[in-house]
Amino acid sequence: MRNRNFVRFLLVTVVAAVLACAPAMAAQAPHAMVVSESAQATQAGLEILKKGGNAVDAAAAVALALGVTNAGSCGLGGGGFMLIYMARQGQFFALDFRETAPKAATADMYIRNGHPNERLAVVGPLAVGVPGQVAGIRDALKRFGTMTFQQVAAPAIKLARDGFPITSLLAGEIAHNRNYIAAEPEFAKVFLRPDGSAPPADTVIRQPELARTLERLGNRPAENFYHGEIAREIASYIKSQGGIITTDDLSDYRAVWREPLHRAFQGNEVYVMPPPSSGGVLLEMLGMLEPGHLPGLGLNSPPYLARLAEVMRQGFIDRALYADPAFVHVPLQVLLSPKHIDEARRRALHHNTLAPRIAPAHDHGTSNFCVVDKDGNVVALTTTINTAFGAKMMVPKLGVVLNDEMDDFAVAPNVPNVYRLQGAKANEIAPGKRPLSSMTPIIVVSHGRPIMTTGGSGGPTILTGVLQVTLNILDFHLGPEQAVTTPRIHEQASPDIIFAEAAIPEPTRRALSEMGYKLKVVPHLGAVNAITIEAGNLHGAFDPRKGGGVAGY
Ligand code: GLY
Repeated sequence: MRNRNFVRFLLVTVVAAVLACAPAMAAQAPHAMVVSESAQATQAGLEILKKGGNAVDAAAAVALALGVTNAGSCGLGGGGFMLIYMARQGQFFALDFRETAPKAATADMYIRNGHPNERLAVVGPLAVGVPGQVAGIRDALKRFGTMTFQQVAAPAIKLARDGFPITSLLAGEIAHNRNYIAAEPEFAKVFLRPDGSAPPADTVIRQPELARTLERLGNRPAENFYHGEIAREIASYIKSQGGIITTDDLSDYRAVWREPLHRAFQGNEVYVMPPPSSGGVLLEMLGMLEPGHLPGLGLNSPPYLARLAEVMRQGFIDRALYADPAFVHVPLQVLLSPKHIDEARRRALHHNTLAPRIAPAHDHGTSNFCVVDKDGNVVALTTTINTAFGAKMMVPKLGVVLNDEMDDFAVAPNVPNVYRLQGAKANEIAPGKRPLSSMTPIIVVSHGRPIMTTGGSGGPTILTGVLQVTLNILDFHLGPEQAVTTPRIHEQASPDIIFAEAAIPEPTRRALSEMGYKLKVVPHLGAVNAITIEAGNLHGAFDPRKGGGVAGY
């Protein structure tokens, strides 16, 4: 008996200790806030805000720090989208620093012996798109920042040089990709233990080459990354591995300022990234849902989830028309017109077919974060190297992990990519073209003032995750903590199947099956973080599915 009590005491003590160590997933603060998928990257942003930097300075610091702490998800070898609200101007800005296809890329570059070889677009040198991260951070700082590149890079440099304890997320990504990492000695030196095994969570890793690269970028980061020695090192490494990116590809890379898309929803205005993001699909899905009284259906009730699934399916059918607007006319005026949204809604409400059983979409790389500063400026930024550890290549001398963003193109017509998204003609590969993305950072305003910002990671589940969290906040009036934690579903038309998180109660799943839906239960669907914004009260939460950090002052 005494033994049993002692064991119980030990268990309670251990659980209490674990809970005490786990960072709170939500926080409130009066002036400024950062939420990201890394506790250290959040602190990097907070440090910059406290030193007087604005939301754009802090966002640059968070993006660079995430490239260290979440090196399997994003970094200098990738790209992203940044949605900015500048309070003084009362205006929105969208910065696209998505990777581009190299000049030597062709629509059939992954066809071998008459058959598409999708693996070439996911692993290895041909999978790499021309990185946009450094150009994006430089352009954002140049237009709206108040600090130098080295000032905002300082926390990332310290993390890379001094090291940090890896999270279970990064430990899992390393373990999953151990064989690829082990194949390159410099890559292995950073991410594996001396005996070649994958390090467990909490192991401290250091990235001295990456720290040095961040320093070498100086205060002319784009000039130094895309021209000169660093560009030559990137191009010659890729060439030595059989890739096609050249110094010309790097020197011609440009980030692009774009006009954000926006649409009314429940008396608010929702701002999203335009193509090559598929943010417009989110607006279309919200448009289809707007006339229905969703709270009347009940949060996550079977009829509510069925309606979401139908609307998601219609949205993803139209996603096939989205692509890089420099190459393809995306008919946004039609897709976001009340007539088209009414028709899509009618189709959504009357569709119900059984679907074949197909493997689920998996959660991979990518990272989202949101920043609000004391002046009311807001940044929502999603950044990626695509799947975990991108092309599974690191430029040895630079410590830069290279993306596999080429897989976000249609590898070949009607060939599904790693996320099971069917390849559409609009998104076929062409030199200099940007691949279609699901990354959807958003900011919502009411009466001209931001009231919330959110975004996510997890391939196509970004769109549906951001949709559900937005509805949870705007329609169901949940706080960000509950909004991001509430179990989610995902439907992307092809495969025509509802992916349901295991946390959706069994009776609900059964009710959906009885309605005729094919369900696939998955542990979790992506990760979404969010901040709600009221005067003097910022409230943020990260997603426990992936972990992270939230902090403010
Ligand atoms: N690489 C994931 C996305 O951009 O959708």
